[in-house]
Amino acid sequence: MNAHATTTKEGAAAPFYLPQRDEIEIFEAAARNDLPVLLKGPTGCGKTRFVSHMAARLGRKLYTVACHDDLSASDLIGRYLLKGGETVWVDGPLTRAVREGAICYLDEVVEARKDVTVVLHPLTDDRRILPIDRTGEELEAAPGFMLVASYNPGYQNILKTLKPSTRQRFLAMEFDFPPPEQEKTIVIEESGIDERRAAMLVRLAGKLRALKGQDLEEGVSTRLVVYAATLIAGGMALDRAIAAAMIEPLTDDADIKRGLADLVVAVLG
Ligand SMILES: Nc1ncnc2c1ncn2[C@@H]1O[C@H](COP(=O)(O)OP(=O)(O)O)[C@@H](O)[C@H]1O
Ligand SMILES: [Mg+2]
Repeated sequence: MNAHATTTKEGAAAPFYLPQRDEIEIFEAAARNDLPVLLKGPTGCGKTRFVSHMAARLGRKLYTVACHDDLSASDLIGRYLLKGGETVWVDGPLTRAVREGAICYLDEVVEARKDVTVVLHPLTDDRRILPIDRTGEELEAAPGFMLVASYNPGYQNILKTLKPSTRQRFLAMEFDFPPPEQEKTIVIEESGIDERRAAMLVRLAGKLRALKGQDLEEGVSTRLVVYAATLIAGGMALDRAIAAAMIEPLTDDADIKRGLADLVVAVLG
């Protein structure tokens, strides 16, 4: 077990999470006060890891839903299914979380269809209810139920922006890639790589992130730095691991790739 492991209410280890600021305190306060939370930030900066860490820490079950543009309210709430000639109602993940007092995490919530955000409204004010039209039930959220949603403001187009009427129901926290010292600690912890090479990968990530907006749409994520370190710790040559984990995922453009490879040589010396 790693040095940063936190124990949960049940004494089990929560997944490793290195805080960047006061996000743990804010999340705990939100949990105590039944307030929903919105996490904003680029892909691969630790949002999902943070939520699993917090769920374990609070001893609450976690239902994660990866939202996409086809996700409908019934995917969250539930539907009637045919089982052995009978139609039975099957709860969706949101309904289960509401009944069990669990955390429901809607990853990339702006991707979801409009009818989904409407479902969330009565759950995010002090009524804390989930009306299930199909069964006529009106569920009151069990103690411990908490709604958490995340999105990447960078990807957003105007059509998909969260409506103020939705976003103003959540506490919100901004996430970003961790500063170099912290990112190095994360990379070492996650991959088992030595400190010298971790520092070098993090320095390279910083240079690649500086290209965002010019050559690259998105900077390299902490997730990708961890991937590179994992490959290297497993014995792969540095240049191959960096190409596979930190260059190829960023672009398909041959010219830009050559530029990035030159940058790698410059950073590695
Ligand atoms: N603060 C952190 N503490 C621990 N691991 C982190 C942290 N930030 C990023 N990571 C690492 O980066 C990976 C990707 O993070 P993830 O939570 O999946 O990103 P997101 O949900 O923001 O896209 C995690 O699996 C973990 O290895
Ligand atoms: Mg995620």
